[in-house]
Amino acid sequence: MNDPENNYPRLFSEGRIGSLRLKNRIISSPMEKNLGDPDGSVTRRYLGNVRARAEGGAALICPEDLYIDPGGKGNMLQLGIHDDAMIPGLQRLCGAVKDGGAAVVAEINHGGRQALLAATGTQPVGPSPIPFEGFRHGEMPRELARGEIEGVVASFEAAAKRARAAGFDAVMIHGAHGYLLNQFFSPRSNRREDEYGGGLEGRMRLPLEVAKSVRRELGDDFPLMYRLTAVEGLEGGLELDDVLALCRALEAAGVDHIDVSAGTYESSALITPSMEAAIAPNADVAGEIKKGVGIGVSVVGRIMDPDTAEEILRSGRADFVTMGRTLHADPYLPRKALEGRAEDIRPCIGCLKCSDLLGTGGPVLCTVNSRAGQEEETRIRRAGAVKSVLVAGGGPAGLEAARVAALRGHRVTLMEMSGELGGQVRYAAKAPGRADLMLLVQSLESEVRNLGVEVCLWTRVDGDEIRGRAPDEVVLATGALFGSSRVPDGAMLAGGELTPGVSIAELDPMDAMANGWDGRGLALIQGGGMRGCAVAGRLAELGGEVIVVEPGETLAGDLGPRARAPMVEKLTARRNVKIFVNTSLEGFDGDGAVLRNENNELRRIKGVRLAVPESLVEPRIEIFASLTDEFPHMNFHPAGDCSGPRGIFEAVQEGA
Ligand SMILES: Cc1cc2nc3c(=O)[nH]c(=O)nc-3n(C[C@H](O)[C@H](O)[C@H](O)COP(=O)(O)O)c2cc1C
Ligand code: SF4
Repeated sequence: MNDPENNYPRLFSEGRIGSLRLKNRIISSPMEKNLGDPDGSVTRRYLGNVRARAEGGAALICPEDLYIDPGGKGNMLQLGIHDDAMIPGLQRLCGAVKDGGAAVVAEINHGGRQALLAATGTQPVGPSPIPFEGFRHGEMPRELARGEIEGVVASFEAAAKRARAAGFDAVMIHGAHGYLLNQFFSPRSNRREDEYGGGLEGRMRLPLEVAKSVRRELGDDFPLMYRLTAVEGLEGGLELDDVLALCRALEAAGVDHIDVSAGTYESSALITPSMEAAIAPNADVAGEIKKGVGIGVSVVGRIMDPDTAEEILRSGRADFVTMGRTLHADPYLPRKALEGRAEDIRPCIGCLKCSDLLGTGGPVLCTVNSRAGQEEETRIRRAGAVKSVLVAGGGPAGLEAARVAALRGHRVTLMEMSGELGGQVRYAAKAPGRADLMLLVQSLESEVRNLGVEVCLWTRVDGDEIRGRAPDEVVLATGALFGSSRVPDGAMLAGGELTPGVSIAELDPMDAMANGWDGRGLALIQGGGMRGCAVAGRLAELGGEVIVVEPGETLAGDLGPRARAPMVEKLTARRNVKIFVNTSLEGFDGDGAVLRNENNELRRIKGVRLAVPESLVEPRIEIFASLTDEFPHMNFHPAGDCSGPRGIFEAVQEGA
């Protein structure tokens, strides 16, 4: 067994934030989860979530940003700290975290122009009447009047007082991610001409007034943190020198600790970097800040594993690491790392499903962790009677089904007809920047094998197999297959023929992902959904010329907006990829393809030599039909793509 003391000596050393002693250097980053009550109070389901985070071993848990004023609420089901009526629920929340062995910090926030109109019912406010350009809402904010600014400071102060009354161990002022304090600080959103705008001093005024008044309210000893955006990545936005000046001023104002993040809602790829992004992108800027201040510094953003965390601490760039999605994917990461079981950690794959779910208003679940956001409801209990379970299919749905059945104490056999586990994910992971998808397969496979599941590769589940094994339950997770061509003979244009000597090959997307294409001539991807974009990216990366023909107006429209953005940006930036939206393929003719756009205009594309029909995924259900006929009394449970092709998220949820 590994020696955790040696593997992660810094990560598991005691630390301090002001007067607060912490058992290790891991802070659980705030994540809104749409689990609150519409009135802002804590729900039972919420308690289950924070309890799991605390039991997982992080030293300090920050549940989510708590709105200090109903006019600054960012989501319908966000937790509030705007009223004394919130205190009893927050007391229960603090109790749940402390029972789990961690300390708890309240992040207090005003959304400003990023508040959600549907949640507040009023026009948002901001430093200046400049709407933001983001994924969602961007109503024109009303400029806060001078007298109203005092009200904002008072609301922060009152929220801090409630946090202490509720039993929080620390308070963190939310000065990041483009919310109100960030809006006042940034020259991009603050065009005021009074003492709260203009030069650096004016733009720092509100953040510093808030920090000072919260410090006064809490007294000298109470731990006070400030979260800020160190990199906005926006034209006319913050410069690092401004940020360093603010950090020094915050230290002078009595702040004990700076938590370094990045991005605003206008550059949200920096808040939650996707799987395409670099690992720990904020660590270096945190190091710059740490050099400039005498107080503690932590850093957040795609710190996905304990080795990266240890390295950040070892290099002296931060005193603590803050982990958000990493712990959403596996709240037990700290405990597993400490116990020398790092290989059991379920890795966040940076798919941004959680961010997209936040935007839908529904519970913030997770692609790789079927329990996240529903911890109590999905508690895995030992089954009363041990059954034999046969799982057909080794994709994510089958692996998750096998894992959960084994955890419940059943005897589980998993059969996969190919020689490898992972199903379609193996192919999807070959798209540029999406290799992290395989981390999920690797971790599921490792866990399933450690749990003693019998894994049979090159084995197809059929009637003989079922008769021979006589399982009590059969999970059919046989996935989807690529159906017949959408380029049938009849699609050839009337009277059209391919020029003699010209042939257009056809590949199904999995073949294209696995084996590529020799790159001679143009490859046409018929359908620009997530699979089509993945194939286009893969073929283009291999050097081919690619065109994508999408009948709808959105590329990768089967992904949520945040998950879609990095994939589409990467694809559209390629010089060897041409994209036609609102366009359909009429057929092939002469030397290539004929496309029709939404205005009924035809366009000929010469030189097409490969066609990849993207959306021909059909559930592999024939096996289900034949087995249920043959074994009418057997319990069959379909899971994943075999009950309708979708994504990894649905596969894992159904597998569980
Ligand atoms: C669903 C979701 C909700 C979030 N809610 C908050 C929040 O309430 N307050 C906050 O400061 N950051 C919030 N964040 C940002 C995270 O705290 C964190 O800074 C970000 O996800 C990057 O860290 P990670 O790569 O470890 O996830 C949220 C992120 C996600 C994905
Ligand atoms: S949904 Fe995706 S990005 Fe979010 S925590 Fe889970 S794996 Fe990570």
